[in-house]
Amino acid sequence: MAGDIDKRIEQLRDEIRRHDHLYYVLSQPQVTDQQYDRLFAELKQLEADHPDRVTSDSPTQRVSGRPLEGFATVRHAAPMLSMDNTYNADELSAFDERVRKQLETPDYDYVVELKIDGLAISLRYEQGVLATGATRGDGEVGDDVTSNIRTIKAVPLSLLSHDAHLPDVLEVRGEVYMPTSSFVELNRVRTEAGEAPFANPRNAAAGSLKLLDARVTASRNLSFFAYAPGQASEALGEDHYHTLERFKELGLPVNPHIQRAGDIDEVIAICLGWSARRTELDYQIDGMVVKVNRFDQREALGATGRAPRWCISYKFPAERAETVVESIVVQVGKSGALTPVANLTPVALSGTTVKRASLHNFDELQRLDVRVGDTVLIEKAGEIIPQVVEVREDYRKEGAEPYPIPEKCPVCDSPAVRDEAEVRLRCPNPQCPGQLKERLRHFAGRGQMDIERLGTSLIEQLVDKGMVESFADLYRLRIEDLSALERMGDKSAKNVVDGIEESKTRPLWRFLAALGIRHVGSQSAQILAEHFGTLAALRNAPQTELEVIDQVGPVMAESIYAYFHDAQYQALVDDLLAAGVEPKAGQPRPTGGALEGKMVVVTGSLQRYTRRQIQEAIKEAGGKASSSVSKKTDLVVAGKDAGSKLDKAQRLGIEVIDEEQFSRILSGEV
Ligand code: IVH
Repeated sequence: MAGDIDKRIEQLRDEIRRHDHLYYVLSQPQVTDQQYDRLFAELKQLEADHPDRVTSDSPTQRVSGRPLEGFATVRHAAPMLSMDNTYNADELSAFDERVRKQLETPDYDYVVELKIDGLAISLRYEQGVLATGATRGDGEVGDDVTSNIRTIKAVPLSLLSHDAHLPDVLEVRGEVYMPTSSFVELNRVRTEAGEAPFANPRNAAAGSLKLLDARVTASRNLSFFAYAPGQASEALGEDHYHTLERFKELGLPVNPHIQRAGDIDEVIAICLGWSARRTELDYQIDGMVVKVNRFDQREALGATGRAPRWCISYKFPAERAETVVESIVVQVGKSGALTPVANLTPVALSGTTVKRASLHNFDELQRLDVRVGDTVLIEKAGEIIPQVVEVREDYRKEGAEPYPIPEKCPVCDSPAVRDEAEVRLRCPNPQCPGQLKERLRHFAGRGQMDIERLGTSLIEQLVDKGMVESFADLYRLRIEDLSALERMGDKSAKNVVDGIEESKTRPLWRFLAALGIRHVGSQSAQILAEHFGTLAALRNAPQTELEVIDQVGPVMAESIYAYFHDAQYQALVDDLLAAGVEPKAGQPRPTGGALEGKMVVVTGSLQRYTRRQIQEAIKEAGGKASSSVSKKTDLVVAGKDAGSKLDKAQRLGIEVIDEEQFSRILSGEV
């Protein structure tokens, strides 16, 4: 028995240390806060029951957090405390009771704020000028990320004085975050360029702020909300609410949804209200923060160790669903990456039906130990990408076997290899039909050569029948070859051939994006096309010329140079040119499109387009796709069962159109 307890204690400590490292050092957490809290609570309980087992290096004995290497450190003039959490109305009422008892009066009020899911930073203004920006770190000492902070446009580099006096020193605490729409776009670009996507906007914000190259941070579209003063040479207001009002006068961005509440019932109503409406925002919130308003009362309440008694967070329940893993399949990516994917019994989760969830890689699959037939909990990471977060082992069917790590590519049987970073398994065979299909799908996709009728099932048949072995083979297909295929009459065969023919003169940037050069997505392809003008000029460019192009950088430069100097790829490109492909010279980025400068929101379910297709179509027509309706929205495309966004658009008097009208606008008919 005693041995079992010791074993469990050690297991918990190791697990918690691992998660601390993932969270604080790598900014890549693998579990939710609730899961982490559960592990921590179990360890604390075991140690409380067996005090002789407590060791000084147990995670319970320190307040966690460690500054990153590579940045100078900053000691916060006033410590950055953390907050206790509540998860329901009863716990909020219990918090209120403690406050009332300690203040010995019912005469107090609250400020209720959104709990922005980004990362905490402290800005120090000296004589009104931004002197330092630092991460929270362990609460006492953080990383000096001033140069990165200075790239965030929402952060004023100097405070507005309106000719009035400015405090000598003002520390401003707040949250740096990445808007959801920017997160989606960043991941799209990263995936296209063969880079790993971020799991959620919080990780993307943390990763972007902790980059050593501020130029990259600048490209990440981070934003900021100020929510509290730190050290200040003078008081800015009699209470919190008025301090935030003063913040606004000083030019600091304060979240517009801050509300005062007279009693706890009002607080609870506000919290529950936002829990239902949180998807309306273009940033993620993971709960609400409830703060006693008056500073003198805060002082009377004081703090316990690491958290003040005058404030509490209300965490939203993570939107989760339970479902069953029907099968696990291994997908082969266009560069050979083998990715395990779980096919699920369809289940509704935060507004969509989820049928599949990526398991990312085989380390992750092993960590979770997902088996076919298992009941699993799924969650949308940042309400966007469905992920398996937990396996209900108590429900596991007898005989369910761990999913084996594949030794071979499931398509071509080549022995699988680990990639350079040792995280992914890859199929090393460039001739693998699985890879070829993915490369062809990419080549013909909307963001690339845009060959509409060359869809997934046709590509499958063409490769399986050996009719297409390279990109260039597409251009040698004849109507007779195609009309012999399943579900393909002469007319459809002609349409496919016409579509392929038409793609021969696509703009150079599309051609470059279609090749699938590592690290080159459609954005970088546009930059390259604008810079070089012709394919020949790019093919002959020395690596040094590539490196100095704004937004290209050494990694992409090396990849492009290597591509055009590899005999196989040279032959592939020559073959395409010989087959009649003639990329149109340096067509600049599309401007003057039908939606030039327009902010467009899409809502409801669509028939003709996938979400990604319509977003790309909007971008291509010069518009900007955003995920939330605001006064800045110009146009809303509403599909079936559109809900609150449509209501809001109508309330604000914004133009609403359906899919039909949208495609007519695109084709220039309207
Ligand atoms: S007040 C004493 N207000 O939540 C606690 N925190 O600690 C002072 N957060 O990492 C924090 N939105 O960065 C406060 N409106 C808000 C917030 C907020 C997000 C974060 C904060 C911290 C975490 C919990």
